[in-house]
Amino acid sequence: MVGTGKQKAEYGDFQTPMVLAQAVCARLAHRALQPATLLEPTCGIGNFLLAGLDQFQTVGAAIGVEINPAHVQRASQALHQRQDAHKTRLMQADFFATDWKRLIGDLAEPILVLGNPPWVTNSELGTLGSRNLPVKSNFQKHDGLDALTGKANFDISEWMLIRLVEALNHRRATLAMLCKAATARKVLCYAWRNGMAVERSVIYGIDAERHFDAAVDAVFLIADFRPGAADRQARVYRDLTEANEPKIIGYEDGILLADISAYHRWRHLCGTETFQWRSGIKHDCAKVMELRREGGKYRNGLGQIVELENTFVYPMLKSSGLGKAQQGPSNRVMLVPQRRVSEDTAHIEHEAPKTWRYLQSHADRLCGRASSIYRDRPCFAIFGVGDYSFAPWKVAISGFYKRLIFAPVGPVEGRPVVFDDTSYFVPCETC
Ligand SMILES: C[S@@+](CC[C@H](N)C(=O)[O-])C[C@H]1O[C@@H](n2cnc3c(N)ncnc32)[C@H](O)[C@@H]1O
Repeated sequence: MVGTGKQKAEYGDFQTPMVLAQAVCARLAHRALQPATLLEPTCGIGNFLLAGLDQFQTVGAAIGVEINPAHVQRASQALHQRQDAHKTRLMQADFFATDWKRLIGDLAEPILVLGNPPWVTNSELGTLGSRNLPVKSNFQKHDGLDALTGKANFDISEWMLIRLVEALNHRRATLAMLCKAATARKVLCYAWRNGMAVERSVIYGIDAERHFDAAVDAVFLIADFRPGAADRQARVYRDLTEANEPKIIGYEDGILLADISAYHRWRHLCGTETFQWRSGIKHDCAKVMELRREGGKYRNGLGQIVELENTFVYPMLKSSGLGKAQQGPSNRVMLVPQRRVSEDTAHIEHEAPKTWRYLQSHADRLCGRASSIYRDRPCFAIFGVGDYSFAPWKVAISGFYKRLIFAPVGPVEGRPVVFDDTSYFVPCETC
């Protein structure tokens, strides 16, 4: 396996610099761990094995697993120079073909599973035509539209960490992993939701830009496992120094909570939602479907001036506009060729010939939309559309901002305002 750029991406091959491996091991040492076994499940050139062996004198066996034979060879050379080389074992193996329950089942406790699994998503792997994936990709059991729209997209490190968590459950063990922040939360949520024996979880922010030259929200996740434990909280620190007051995330009432104390403060507001929230319109082709009024005509996102009938043109508010406390007048419009999902669009040709010609002239872009939700749908199909999209009044909120601003939005020149799919709203008949 040669380290081309494509292979680097495909195998999430970003080796942890020794200085970071040492820093996280030093942080782990504050927990008074006394591991009998050290396991690195995608060990690369072995920096974590080396740093772990240096830090934890109690380790009697250190095992590394790695798919890339060149990395295994480098790790082997580095380990063989050590006096404690006899404690180490390297395996060239595919994570996805390894029986982790069995491998971990044979290890002496306490077990420290330490490392940095590949940072790559299944959809990125799909684009690269890679097979470095678990056999069953839809492992969170998303179905229907969610599986198609990308909600089912996942980091392969998430899949890997969940396999490890399952193998560590009810053992005396510590999982200590560098990963994306979202992956850490999802893995903890999986363990908490499934009643696993976890305690003392912590998340530390890591400067991925500095260590990996990657613009990723990265963390070091630590979770201890102990038979009988049932802790459902994790402290979250800005960095490894623990200098800030930690935020506490957790799992209560069947919900993953970003801030436990805020939840306790506001829990009395929780209840059954009587309104049905809807999302804005999804078209995946803003350059064609979103335009601005210019005199009696429109300018699209490609800079073209076009003439359209009013029939399918609606005033629109972008999510960014909704996020502002006061929305100014907007000259934006959206072309909405369907009133409900899957409605036939052929009638547009007679009802609004200019609009039809405009859509036809951009058929290549509209038919070329990558998402498979548009496959086998009428020409120019959109999603997130229904009677509710055309309700005259809406209470809307942008999905982009942490500050919650609920905006009442009424018709403009007698036409209902529509939103893009990053906004959410409750449709209303009156104001
Ligand atoms: C982010 S790097 C980290 C390497 C090492 N753990 C470290 O921290 O320096 C991810 C490693 O996972 C390895 N890898 C990717 N896919 C794998 C698979 N299916 N099985 C085993 N190792 C894999 C890559 O070759 C790479 O060495």
